[in-house]
Amino acid sequence: MTRVLSGIQPTGEVHLGNYIGALQHWVTDQYEHESYYCIVDLHAITTPQEPERLRAATLDLAATLLAVGLEPDRCTLFVQSHVPEHTELAWILNCVATFGELRRMTQFKDKAAKQREAGVSVGYFDYPVLQAADILIYQADRVPVGEDQRQHLELTRNIAQRFNARFGDTFIVPEPAIPKVGAKILDLQNPLAKMSKSADSPQGTIKLTDSRDVVAKKIKVAVTDSGREILASPDKPAITNLLTILSVATGKSLSDLEDSFRDRGYADLKREVAEGLIAFLEPIQERYAELLGDPAEIGRQLEIGATKAQKVAQATMAGVYDRVGFLPRK
Ligand code: TRP
Repeated sequence: MTRVLSGIQPTGEVHLGNYIGALQHWVTDQYEHESYYCIVDLHAITTPQEPERLRAATLDLAATLLAVGLEPDRCTLFVQSHVPEHTELAWILNCVATFGELRRMTQFKDKAAKQREAGVSVGYFDYPVLQAADILIYQADRVPVGEDQRQHLELTRNIAQRFNARFGDTFIVPEPAIPKVGAKILDLQNPLAKMSKSADSPQGTIKLTDSRDVVAKKIKVAVTDSGREILASPDKPAITNLLTILSVATGKSLSDLEDSFRDRGYADLKREVAEGLIAFLEPIQERYAELLGDPAEIGRQLEIGATKAQKVAQATMAGVYDRVGFLPRK
């Protein structure tokens, strides 16, 4: 069976773009593959985090992931810092990755350009190596990620190949699984940008926890395209975005939706998107509230995940320590 691994940072609230671009695939993958999903708190602290907020955000994200349908007996859902082998492998891989290749990562370059290189943490610079460790420690075959992570996956593959060449076959060289364009959800206020946690326009982002009134409002004021036809096409990014959202919320195909909106107007479309989305979010929000009311239960689910994950991680690390020539502890 194919092994899948992905990670998500516990920073900011999960929005519809995260769900459609990633989480819905995580949910379906858990039925078809051996799936590992990691809440990457070690990655989160590569930029400053307020400790109590980080802790709350981690619990909150776990509740969200369970609420959208991850099932702990179908997948392995865990918190990265609960499996310290990730950081152990990261150190080993630090000695395989080169300064030059990390220096070329666009995520780092963008950050360094924005706030001066001298102010960027070493952890942030090293972020992609920890990510490689997350993936390689589980011998993952496939890594579902967004387009923005393609370079980190390429680095992971290079590190795996270099390690294997130097020390003998140890790691599976993973393939990225990047959803086709079109699966991307755009900012409702600026359909040229991705929906994001940090957008300048909070009105453009639908959070999974938005109340029905808030959802209705945000859809109502969403930007539309010129013209009147309701079609999913590259010259109609705003309408395509609304159709995509409706398609995910209702399970109807884009072409069926286009048919149903022939000779109808944007106001009709928006009304259906708002209704569809509210109906779609309601059960998720109910489960989420229920879970957050019982943090001990979330902790129990995460413990099951950490135990399963750690078993695999420890087996990989035993092989790695042997390969690199460490004296075993007696
Ligand atoms: N860097 C990823 C992101 O920002 C998160 C991540 C951390 C990840 N470790 C991972 C994704 C391992 C895939 C596999 O989206």
